[in-house]
Amino acid sequence: MTAIRFKKIFEPTNIGQMRLKNRIVMPPMGTNYAEAGGAVSQRMLDYYEARARGGTGLIIVEGSAPSLQCNMSFQGSPSYQASLGADRFIPEWRKLTDTAHKFDARIAIQIMHGTLENWNGKAVQVGPSPVIVPARFMGILGVPPHELTVEEIAERVEWFASAARRAKEAGFDGVEIHGAHQYIIAAFLSSATNQRKDKYGGSVENKARFLIEILRAVKREVGPDFPVWVRFNAQEWGIESGITLEETKKMVRLAVEAGAQALHVSGYGAGSYITTAPIPDTAGFLVSLAEEVKKLARVPVIAVGRLDLELGEKILEDGKADLIAIGRRLLADPDLPNKVAEGRLDEVTPCIGCMECIERLVFDERGEGVTCVVNPGLGKEKAYQTRPAGKVKNVVVVGGGPAGMQAAVAAAKRGHKVTLFEKEAKLGGQLNIAALPPFKGDIFPWLDYLVSQVENTGVKVELNADATSEIVTRKKPDAVVIAAGGNPVMPDIPGIDRSNVVTAEDVLSGEARVGQNVVIIGGGMIGCETGHYLAKQGKTVTIIEILKRMANDMFLMTRRRLMDGLKSKKVTMLASTTCEEIKEGSVLVTTAEGKKETIPADTVIVAAGYEANDRLYKALEGKVPEIYCIGNSAKPRRILEANSEGYQTGLAL
Ligand SMILES: Cc1cc2nc3c(=O)[nH]c(=O)nc-3n(C[C@H](O)[C@H](O)[C@H](O)COP(=O)(O)O)c2cc1C
Repeated sequence: MTAIRFKKIFEPTNIGQMRLKNRIVMPPMGTNYAEAGGAVSQRMLDYYEARARGGTGLIIVEGSAPSLQCNMSFQGSPSYQASLGADRFIPEWRKLTDTAHKFDARIAIQIMHGTLENWNGKAVQVGPSPVIVPARFMGILGVPPHELTVEEIAERVEWFASAARRAKEAGFDGVEIHGAHQYIIAAFLSSATNQRKDKYGGSVENKARFLIEILRAVKREVGPDFPVWVRFNAQEWGIESGITLEETKKMVRLAVEAGAQALHVSGYGAGSYITTAPIPDTAGFLVSLAEEVKKLARVPVIAVGRLDLELGEKILEDGKADLIAIGRRLLADPDLPNKVAEGRLDEVTPCIGCMECIERLVFDERGEGVTCVVNPGLGKEKAYQTRPAGKVKNVVVVGGGPAGMQAAVAAAKRGHKVTLFEKEAKLGGQLNIAALPPFKGDIFPWLDYLVSQVENTGVKVELNADATSEIVTRKKPDAVVIAAGGNPVMPDIPGIDRSNVVTAEDVLSGEARVGQNVVIIGGGMIGCETGHYLAKQGKTVTIIEILKRMANDMFLMTRRRLMDGLKSKKVTMLASTTCEEIKEGSVLVTTAEGKKETIPADTVIVAAGYEANDRLYKALEGKVPEIYCIGNSAKPRRILEANSEGYQTGLAL
């Protein structure tokens, strides 16, 4: 059945002489799992092994630096980016390629120069021209980039060639040249950043010269048969003089003539947040570009951009591309290809598109590496393996939110007998409401997945069960996990107990009726998202935040997306503002300027955070052999921590 439904995607194909068992490509994704300085780590080996074992046809290893000089973080400090910059790295890379080959996966590596270089301990950005173009990442260090001389360009071309030679010696099946996104080759290709008057600027031929010289030098080094291809921005949006599709069509012809054996079609969009591209939140966002390239290409085309296997199959059927790259979904579930091939679609852990992975990478100065909200085992593949329990225990879990469900599932997978108490009529806890605000809808499939995991692993669920210490002890548990969630904080403000005051939870769950004029007390993520949700319904919303910055608990990109949404819906955001009193039909505040103001409010919504809820834990301590308090019950945090703590607890039982 599945084989027929996904016929195209599981059909073998070739890139040059490289035979692929299917058309699923894992695109390059930086992880920061390498050792400081760029050597392959055990963590990387485990991470890539899991993806090879999981059935991916072609793994393209993360963008790796071609020289020790350009192994830099996004902030310009020496980094944990993987490196192809020295021969001494080859034996470790060999371990990685050998591992992938054991599972009949093909493995290539992306060579990436991120524009930042280490010049005798000083971070310097280099580029085609000394122009600051924030939308194109140029001038990130606050000064114009160093304009590369012709000799320096030639030196960097040779870096790529040597890196490709090392990749071949390490057993890679191919190399991808990173000509996309905001990095150095794309900087040459884009008129926004390339204002040169010499042979590297002006016409498409000139702007593509750096890329073409790299391709030729790489081919010279690895020989004509070794597969080499290029990833590029087929188009740039929102950037004055950005790359156009017409330019790309010319560039593509030159690249293929120079030896590119495949074309990996990405894009780049400037917005105040990154999600328009290259990491889109809309499925198939970049496919029309792949289709345009495919019309003129004589070599295989790889499409990318929030694809899943259903959409991928359709793209292949319609002849819009030859291979389908699946990025974040393979972080969420390394076994995605095998599960789909075996018809186990409901077992695939869905990616919720929350951007945790990329935000972690970009702001990761300490080399902690990317993490995934839905896959606590990402980057911990060996440590998080499920092993059968030595002694089967009777486990009681209290709370059916993400922490509780993960704990129950992990424990059940180990063979324990698990009972899960949930006080509401359905499982999911906070996820039921977290999925409602704009941009959060992809949480629903994950919630469905978690519930089906609970069912499929044989966990006994008791709904509408407000577990007391008596109810729990009656079960004679060997181990108890308290994951009952936190309690909303109600700030000590005169009028807080008025009938028009409700919590964000009450609003999102539909329990509270909301009037036209709304004031939200608390401008963290939950307050702002609730504001956005209501503003989209046409309510007049004011958000009051005591701190200087709204949504201070969010990462940069998703925060910007939310702020844009709030601004477009004309939500009033008052930072550094204190709520003094809640009155009938209004609230009294002190603004950042120290002025007292009255804001009309039919409904006042409190979103002032959560406090731990360890009442049951304390009541049971000493009465049961083993007890754990996890997730918001222990300390209010985000879904990431709740989920991961639940999983770890379940594994440790
Ligand atoms: C954590 C992370 C790291 C990435 N690193 C790279 C990289 O090193 N090189 C690159 O070309 N693209 C990189 N990308 C972009 C992906 O290759 C891919 O194009 C993008 O995630 C869109 O595909 P998806 O929607 O299937 O995730 C990265 C994306 C993520 C999420």
